[in-house]
Amino acid sequence: MQATEVSEELARRVVDAAARALDVTLSPAEAMIQASAREGVDYQANLAMGLGKRLGRAPREVAALLAGHLHLDGLTEPPEIAGPGFLNFVLNRTWLEHRVAAIDDDPRLGVATTANPRRIALDYSSPNVAKEMHVGHLRSTVIGDALARLLRFAGHEVLPHNHLGDWGTPFGMLIEHLLDEGREDGRIEDLNAFYQAARRKFDADEAFAARARERVVLLQGGDAATLVTWRRLVDESTRHFNEVYALLGITLADADIHGESFYNPYLGALVADLEAAGLTEPSDGAVCVFPTGFHNREGDRLPLIVRKRDGGYGYAATDLATLRYWTAERGATDLLYVVGTPQAQHFAMVFAVCRDAGWLTTQRAGHVGFGSVLGADGKTMRTRAGGTVKLADLLTEAVAHAASVVAERSELSAEAQREVARAVGIGAVKYADLSGDRERDYVFAWDRMLAREGNTSVYLQYANARIRSLLARAGEPEPGAPVVLDDPAERALALALLRFGEAVHSATTSCSPHKLCAYLYETAVVFSRFYERCPVLTAPTDRLRASRLRLAALTSRTLVLGLSLLGIDAPARL
Ligand code: ARG
Repeated sequence: MQATEVSEELARRVVDAAARALDVTLSPAEAMIQASAREGVDYQANLAMGLGKRLGRAPREVAALLAGHLHLDGLTEPPEIAGPGFLNFVLNRTWLEHRVAAIDDDPRLGVATTANPRRIALDYSSPNVAKEMHVGHLRSTVIGDALARLLRFAGHEVLPHNHLGDWGTPFGMLIEHLLDEGREDGRIEDLNAFYQAARRKFDADEAFAARARERVVLLQGGDAATLVTWRRLVDESTRHFNEVYALLGITLADADIHGESFYNPYLGALVADLEAAGLTEPSDGAVCVFPTGFHNREGDRLPLIVRKRDGGYGYAATDLATLRYWTAERGATDLLYVVGTPQAQHFAMVFAVCRDAGWLTTQRAGHVGFGSVLGADGKTMRTRAGGTVKLADLLTEAVAHAASVVAERSELSAEAQREVARAVGIGAVKYADLSGDRERDYVFAWDRMLAREGNTSVYLQYANARIRSLLARAGEPEPGAPVVLDDPAERALALALLRFGEAVHSATTSCSPHKLCAYLYETAVVFSRFYERCPVLTAPTDRLRASRLRLAALTSRTLVLGLSLLGIDAPARL
């Protein structure tokens, strides 16, 4: 099928009409088409007001001219002109019936792939070695993975990379501590406790601190024995991270790990090239770059430190090398970094330096920031003992909570119940993270995220399971059965199903999964209204029964596909 979205199709026709009626050339965006919130109106075009101003004509007159020159070919009824000059469109019933049937025949449910596929380096998750992943990393992991799925579905090539914090001065003390403990071959069960013990020794024991500093020099110098111990720490941490990824159903693999250490061999040349380009300035023994346009409150220029006084390199130099690697060596056309909002300025400065150095030219780079996860008290989430909350513990708890919700009324086997509890519990944590605007903080609250009503994954999973059980009773719908939209509730559902592509598209292009969540929730609500008003199994005619079954089945497929793009499972039975 032709998988253009309705808004695009309308925009194209409005642009054509503008050319014919007014001799102006507009881009599709300038047609200003949007889904309408007005009762009885499906879409509206808001261009006549601005166009009237530009052409010095009355907006309503412009709207009437546009309406008179539109070639609608049965897509909508002739538009009405409302208020100051809105063009209000109502989709033609027959057209809608055919389009919904065509979407139902399409495995992609009418969602077009991009005409302009890009190669997108996507930095996400990126936890720190020798520390447990905490809820802050949850957001990067969950949002990043949803974006990876959405971008791939759109037809882009995604190059995921996990920028592990696996290098730098703390490794001196961590390696010394590991050697002292003599457990080179054993497991480290509690990474946080291990890290804290190393830090305590470092602060209290001057001899240990001196050894730790020497160890950093050995590590950076590539000493073989030191690297072996360092590797043990990285592998041990990766094992913990992989446990969390498996529990969460995250698509990152070991091959995607490109930690800070990976870029170490590139740093010398990087600084030399910046120096040769005349971009560096010495500052207090360090080498700095001052990208234009970055100042502190006092008006002083802000530096990006590319080589520290002691000759070592830090976070900023590594990020410059990272960007250069993904563009120059891996051919990325786009770079996206899913990292907390506090690092916004860091990335803005990295991008600026790379532009000045000529490493970022036609490529697009963007920081996909996000807010914090807060506890019930509105402060950064902590355990009762005041420590940071470990992600693995939190997820185990989520599944346990979900198990108690699911077990109440389920006639499933114990094994199936476990699987469902996992889908519900993990889904709830992920959905809570994805369903709000990512730039905002959110409060982590079990009862809210596991609620069966409201914009939660549990609500969507139940809605889907109810449809699956209806289909199990009725039998799958006949593939070719005509879609009949007699009742307003049938029409409303058809319209919602038709908008899946628009929702997926806007969530993808704005890196905002919450837009897809909002769409799925609305669609499930519209379905439940349909289901109340329009009996399916006992529909008055066979024709209506078949059509309603098709609408129900398509709703289920829409929810399942939509949730899967967010990385959330939708079990057929709950
Ligand atoms: N490891 C860092 C942290 O936990 C995040 C790294 C993000 N990615 C990057 N390229 N800087 O804060």
